[in-house]
Amino acid sequence: MDHSGDDQFLDSVVEKYARYVNPGLARLMAFAGYGVEAKAEGCYLYDHTGKKFLDCLGGYGVFGIGHRHPKVVEAAKRALDTQPLPSKVFFSRPLADLAEKLAQISPGDLQYSFFCNSGTEAVEGALKLAKAFTGREKFVATHAGYHGKTMGALSATGREKYREPFLPLVPGFGFAPFNDVGALSAIDNQTAAFIVETIQGEGGIHVATAEYMAAAREACDRAGALLIVDEVQTGFGRTGKMFGLDHHPGVQADLVTYAKGLSGGVAPVGAFMGTERIWAKVFGENPLVHTSTFGGNALACEVALASIAVIEEEGLCDRAAAMGSRMKSGLQSVRDRFPELISDVRGEGLMLGVEFTMDDVGELCIAQMVKRGVVAAYTLNNRRVIRFEPPLIISESEVDTAISVFGDSVEETNSLVSAVMQ
Ligand SMILES: Cc1ncc(COP(=O)(O)O)c(C=O)c1O
Repeated sequence: MDHSGDDQFLDSVVEKYARYVNPGLARLMAFAGYGVEAKAEGCYLYDHTGKKFLDCLGGYGVFGIGHRHPKVVEAAKRALDTQPLPSKVFFSRPLADLAEKLAQISPGDLQYSFFCNSGTEAVEGALKLAKAFTGREKFVATHAGYHGKTMGALSATGREKYREPFLPLVPGFGFAPFNDVGALSAIDNQTAAFIVETIQGEGGIHVATAEYMAAAREACDRAGALLIVDEVQTGFGRTGKMFGLDHHPGVQADLVTYAKGLSGGVAPVGAFMGTERIWAKVFGENPLVHTSTFGGNALACEVALASIAVIEEEGLCDRAAAMGSRMKSGLQSVRDRFPELISDVRGEGLMLGVEFTMDDVGELCIAQMVKRGVVAAYTLNNRRVIRFEPPLIISESEVDTAISVFGDSVEETNSLVSAVMQ
């Protein structure tokens, strides 16, 4: 149905959000200037009026290979025509193939996979396995780290605003400042695991130093604790290498979590992986100790396999590194024009963040960008930071368009802020 120019259509959807979904969210999305999503392809989203948007958010890191990559859509269609959801009693060939593929490409000696449907579920599973394997109850996580919003994952998430309404959360979680080697002394001989991202995504795009990741591994070894690396956002080429951990050769994780980029942007997929000794103990004692009805379904596994193949065949890790460095220098040039408004530009590959000097300016700037046809969002645990996480297939000219729109949007935001300050 064509809804071009149809304000009534937009109003009716917003009204349903307000009545039946979430009134506050309806207001927030309307403020940012979003219409109704109608279709998506490659690096672009289209709203109900047919307006085209360059996607610089990439579904918070989901659309690494772009929207509706033909090879992934094809794989999904094949699965739909055979058996998309498993009976769970037969062996599944796609699940076995995906587990094998992940063991081949994942860093270190991560061998076994458990499949689920989201990042937070992957984190839940990893935390549970760490507890069962070590027989310990304590966890150490990082300030501003983000691991999801189910009870266990939220217990490891470092933002009070999300935690406070649900207290008390799972007991035993403590927090240490990110990138602070000295603070790793919080990992002691009662700690089951330390959970960390190689780049804090929702925390505001903070890149872990090599020294910090190496020290984290050492601290876990000393304490007999496990190292859980949350690759939900950093995984599958986003940072310019297949995994965030690939930037830290020599640092081996005991457990990792995947989701977002594994989905190929077509079907929800999550997974956590672990080493042989962890699986042998936890699943050896009871193969059904952790299960999921939908996890590892054939549709999701075929889509994930096809999407990893696309990342490899199209050289998207290298592409993310190259386009990321072009985008980063473009963002830095905008920062140089507006040093009073932008304090920092940081990140790796196509996981980049721009930090503003004041609260709320990011939101104003996002609204300006949306008006000019570029989609962006701030980071959940740090609203001063706008993230740029476009599809890794983005071209040089699309990067340049994004930078030029960002520059114009900051300029207009600057005028608005100056007018308010006077
Ligand atoms: C590092 C990290 N872990 C876990 C999650 C939770 O993933 P999901 O929203 O799929 O539950 C996110 C989501 O942004 C994330 O960035």
